[in-house]
Order: sequence, then structure tokens, then C-alpha cells
Amino acid sequence: MRALVVGAAAGGGLPQWNCAAPNSAGFWLGAPPHPAATQSSLAVSADGERWLLINASPDLRSQIIALPQLQPRVGTALRNSPIAAVLLTNGDLDHIAGLLTLREGQPFTLYATDAILGVLAANPVFDALAATVVPRTPIHLDTTFEALPGLSVTVYPVPGKVPLFMESGEVATDLVGEQTVGVAISDGRATLHYIPGCAAVDAGLRARVDGADALLFDGTLYVDDEMVRAGVGTKTGRRMGHMSVSGPEGSVAAWAPARIGRRVFVHLNNTNPLWRDGPERAETEAAGWQIGHDGMELTL
Ligand code: MLT
Ligand code: MN
Repeated sequence: MRALVVGAAAGGGLPQWNCAAPNSAGFWLGAPPHPAATQSSLAVSADGERWLLINASPDLRSQIIALPQLQPRVGTALRNSPIAAVLLTNGDLDHIAGLLTLREGQPFTLYATDAILGVLAANPVFDALAATVVPRTPIHLDTTFEALPGLSVTVYPVPGKVPLFMESGEVATDLVGEQTVGVAISDGRATLHYIPGCAAVDAGLRARVDGADALLFDGTLYVDDEMVRAGVGTKTGRRMGHMSVSGPEGSVAAWAPARIGRRVFVHLNNTNPLWRDGPERAETEAAGWQIGHDGMELTL
């Protein structure tokens, strides 16, 4: 199985269009201290030809231009794409806006839970993808299906919240149900889990992932109040439905007891110190984690 980090950044990407805080500033000054990163997405393939895209980011067109794995094969049909199916893990903008890039009458299968398909159904702009060309295919929690030939997929609930653009009133950030899912993917030999958004890890989730060959996990913030401390926002990670990386309640500690082949943080916010070399990155890598980057490919 091949797994390609299509976009390693959280919503906004790195640099973010309106951000002059430290990680983004170097890009505007012409001296970026680390590579840019696009918004959250993973692609998985059993054969290197047909790819399952997990989440469609607003950066999808530039991601395709950057990544040969996802480009049309020249010399075959005049219209073709190796993106044979798309699966959504929630209805957040950074995970669905790229669907609009995939218009133009190219068939693929769109998989999501009924709750996530409901977000699309409530927004008629997504009718740009005609259901006759792009069938919206409901998938069910804890029910394994073949997303592409040779790729078995199971989605399962992880704690999260409704999409930001659908929030109203008091917002529960630890809803467990169909609106935020983790994904287990197997080609019969290796198993990978992809969880780009997660508010908490409990013993049940740890047991589910235990023994996997790879886990790509929500690395949005290094510390819960990172955006507040950076002066770029008022929200904590908890309020956004993202657990943080560090500390006794962080994800490095939460996953420590699990047996996992490779651990990779993805969906990093542009404020995250893990983007740059420094003590936070050194400590996280020493704990057995890799920091995802655009174009990172895992062969499992
Ligand atoms: C998130 O991961 O919390 C969302 O992508 C935020 C957003 O929609 O901007
Ligand atoms: Mn996001």
C-alpha cells in the first residue's frame, strides 16, 4: 500500500493568506525557514494507479500539479484521473471545498457517512458534481467496504464537532457519531489509520489502532492555547475539536502505549512550532513521531 500526504497543513495552510505571524512571515519576507504546506488531505493506493483521496482540500488543484501520482496519465484517454474515489472524514471546509475543483464531468465515487453527505446536500453549490457522474455513496460506521479494488476501508467515530461554518449557540466539541470519523485502510497486508481531526483519544480508540503499520494523526496544535499565545486568535484547540500534541493530556502521551509501526503528525496549523527545527520538534521526534510534509509518501 502507498500513502501520500497530499497536504500536511490544517485549514489555512502554511503560509496562510492573511497571516504575518512567525511561521508564515518568512514566506512574505522571501526567506521561508521551512517548506510551504497545503491543506489537509491524504491519498492511498494499492496499485499506484488508482488512488483513494481522503478529503478534498481547497488546494487540490495545486496539489495535483505538485504530485505526479495524482496527475492524468498522458497517452491514455484525453480526460482521465488517477483519483478514482474520494472519502470525507468530516464536513469541514478544508476537507470538502476541493470537491469543487473536481467538477468537469470526471466520474469518481464519493464516499461519506450520511451526516457528512448531509452537509453537502445542504449546500447546493456541490451540485456542480452531478450525482449521475459522481455518485454520493453513503458509508456506515464500523462497516468495512472495498473503496477501490484491493483497498478495504472502515470508518469509525472519533470525538469532534460540527463544521465551523455550521456552528450555532453552545457548541459541543466532543460529539461521537457520524460527523467526524477516523479511517482504517487495509490492502490485506498492511493497515493504516488516518485521523486528521480528533478531540480525544480513549482506550477504545487506542485498542482499535493498536497493531497498525501506520497512524497519521491530528497534529493541529502543539499546545492547546497556542493561537491565543501567538496573538492570532481567541480559540483553544479544545474549542476547535482538536487535542494538542504535547503535555500529559496530549496525543504523544495518549498514543505512547499503542504498538504502531509509524506515527506521523498531519493537519498542522500554521502556528505550530513543529514546522521548524527546535526543541518541540526534537522532543516529538524523540518520542517516535514524524512530522508530515506535502509529498511525503509511506510504502507499507
Ligand atoms: C478545523 O480543522 O478545525 C477546521 O478545518 C477549521 C476550519 O474550518 O477553518
Ligand atoms: Mn481542518
